[in-house]
Amino acid sequence: MTREIKKILGYTIGITVLSALYFVYVKMTYPRLPENETILSEIGEGFGTAGLWLLGIIYGRTLLKLVMGKGKLAKRLLPDYTPPKATSYLKRFLLFLNKTHIYVGIAAVAIILLHIAMVGIPMNILFFPAVLALVLWQGFFGMFISWKYSPKELRKFSYLVHAQLMTGILIGIFAYFGHMAIDN
Ligand code: HEM
Repeated sequence: MTREIKKILGYTIGITVLSALYFVYVKMTYPRLPENETILSEIGEGFGTAGLWLLGIIYGRTLLKLVMGKGKLAKRLLPDYTPPKATSYLKRFLLFLNKTHIYVGIAAVAIILLHIAMVGIPMNILFFPAVLALVLWQGFFGMFISWKYSPKELRKFSYLVHAQLMTGILIGIFAYFGHMAIDN
């Protein structure tokens, strides 16, 4: 296992343990939320599911790039890896995912924001403002990479902080424990 993969695994386990501890604290100290089913919150729940699918597509692309040994992340995580011969179908599929990432990304940010606004998420449970900040972070820096007037330095910095698997891991862990915390 490369040092990079060990580092990511270490981070993931560390963040999961800390989140689990905070989750126990929330469960013990916060009152149960009353059921609040309105038409708006029902639609908002649908947006939550859609947002999850879009994140699945986004990180599915990252996974596919890793398997196919493409991109900087693959070179960093799997320096000695020889990817299997990809079929042209798989190559075309990855190309399609690459070309559509900006649109899928914008849709993911918009839909997750709508989900948060419509279901009335309790922002005093810190998992939620953290997820909100990370999603906005992805959206802003994604925009700065793609905006043609971004100065070169800003584009480089934005790529560095946007194309991070760790952000996805944080979004996943925080959203999971957050939803568990408010699950009655
Ligand atoms: C929640 C929303 C988003 C997530 C989770 C996300 C995630 C990612 C990840 C993980 C990468 C690296 C891909 C890789 O090398 O495997 C990436 C690259 C990139 N993203 Fe996003 N992104 C989001 C939204 C956006 C938005 C809104 C834009 C533009 C408006 C954008 C533009 C880009 C660009 C230009 C790249 C670099 C080129 C590429 O890899 O295709 N992203 N994004």
